[in-house]
Amino acid sequence: MKPTRRTFLKNISAASAALATAGVAGTGLAKAGVARPFSIIRDLKKVSPNDKIRIATIGMGIQGNFDTQAALRSSPDTELVAVADLYDGRLQRVKETFGKDIFTTRDYREILARKDIDAVLIVTPDHWHDHITKEALKAGKNVYCEKPMVHHIDEGLSVIDAWKKSGKTMQVGSQRISGAAHREAKRMIDAGDIGAINYIESNNDRFGAIGAWNYSIPPDASPATCDWERFLGDAPKVPFDAKRFFRWRNYRDYGTGVAGDLFVHLITGVHFVTSSLGPERIFSSGELSYWKDGRDVPDVLVSILEYPKTSIHEKFQMVLRVNFANAGSIKNNTRIIGTEGQIEFDGSGIVLTKKKLPVAPGYGNYDSFFTFPEATQKEFVKQYDAQYPPDTRKADPVKEIKFSAPDKEDEHANHFANFFENVRKGSQGTIEDPVFAFRAAAPVLACNESYFDQKTVYWDPVAMKQLKKK
Ligand SMILES: NC(=O)c1ccc[n+]([C@@H]2O[C@H](COP(=O)([O-])OP(=O)(O)OC[C@H]3O[C@@H](n4cnc5c(N)ncnc54)[C@H](O)[C@@H]3O)[C@@H](O)[C@H]2O)c1
Repeated sequence: MKPTRRTFLKNISAASAALATAGVAGTGLAKAGVARPFSIIRDLKKVSPNDKIRIATIGMGIQGNFDTQAALRSSPDTELVAVADLYDGRLQRVKETFGKDIFTTRDYREILARKDIDAVLIVTPDHWHDHITKEALKAGKNVYCEKPMVHHIDEGLSVIDAWKKSGKTMQVGSQRISGAAHREAKRMIDAGDIGAINYIESNNDRFGAIGAWNYSIPPDASPATCDWERFLGDAPKVPFDAKRFFRWRNYRDYGTGVAGDLFVHLITGVHFVTSSLGPERIFSSGELSYWKDGRDVPDVLVSILEYPKTSIHEKFQMVLRVNFANAGSIKNNTRIIGTEGQIEFDGSGIVLTKKKLPVAPGYGNYDSFFTFPEATQKEFVKQYDAQYPPDTRKADPVKEIKFSAPDKEDEHANHFANFFENVRKGSQGTIEDPVFAFRAAAPVLACNESYFDQKTVYWDPVAMKQLKKK
């Protein structure tokens, strides 16, 4: 029997699953000598270039719309065929925006049951990510899941396991790492441009109701127009509350707070550029300072994450901050600081500043030299001159190199292009696969645990396991 496109896709999945054994992939991990607990399936067979990849979006809220548009922009061979959402107004809006023939439903299982859908975009609140991802992989779908990959640390390994068994392609949605600035920063760090990294700081402050997640609630929100029972999923049963439905980030039952929403982007970027696997010790402090509107998550959070020395990098500290009530000046940036310079991310580009100390320490000015008796000063200078010839006293001039991402760069579409390229190849080698994504998600979830339980959290970034104490 001549293979059809469907049987062909099914066959390469089976081949992928069969091949999913030991191996090392990813330049950073390979350099670190760390074996991934699975293999990356590369370049099996290509899907015919004439075949369209048929996608469906599950969760068509704010990011569901942006993701779907980016997916369609990323490749002309991609077609949206179905959407699931729990608010009727959003399903109606799908018909207005994406076309009246798009199949819509409140029940995502109807989408997973369809044989003509190759990939699903999971863009629901965080508490649904693991459930729908595992069901989708089991149903043979390729998965693009929004960040953070999971709602709780103990859900991560089962998602990885489901992915590994399925042989399907999966990408998690921290799209910034598909931008030129991150690629360039990684190149600079790999080239040793800033020496040994010892400190990273990143902040993401805001000042405004929408920035603090108080999104608009439609006037027709009610138990009739919103599928409240399904929205709750595995969360505690509470009566319908439009604020919880449309502003779910404000509640731990459905969201992951500022850490899961924003720190995760920062950590993902840092892991990408440094090839780090993650921190070992995590501590947070925070408060609910301003947005006392019933939310149960902090609006100010500061976390310190300690990264151990590996074969790729020295030990370093990372300090992350979000302040949703910053009425002062806001300058959000990420600085990666090393012993020979720093890389600063500023919007669309980066600035590399190279600064190297001379060998000679110098003397004089604010120093103890002047407090010595004259004869001792003379002896000091004599010894200093003998020890430090002129060429050890010169510092290299400070150099600043600016890198701007190309004007029309579309990192969101690039992230999807990477996903679809791997779907076509039948490969699991996406830029943000579930192992990479869990290594970014777990530390942010640990930031929350540290804040809520007022304790230090210990994490094994290689085995991806939480520890009682090291
Ligand atoms: N990558 C990024 O830059 C980025 C940006 C924003 C949001 N996100 C992520 O995207 C996800 C969605 O965020 P959002 O701002 O779009 O939220 P949103 O509230 O605007 O949309 C979520 C939608 O999911 C629907 N939904 C909930 N449970 C569902 C289920 N079981 N089946 C089908 N639909 C369901 C809701 O009806 C809602 O319309 C979150 O995980 C968030 O962290 C990522």
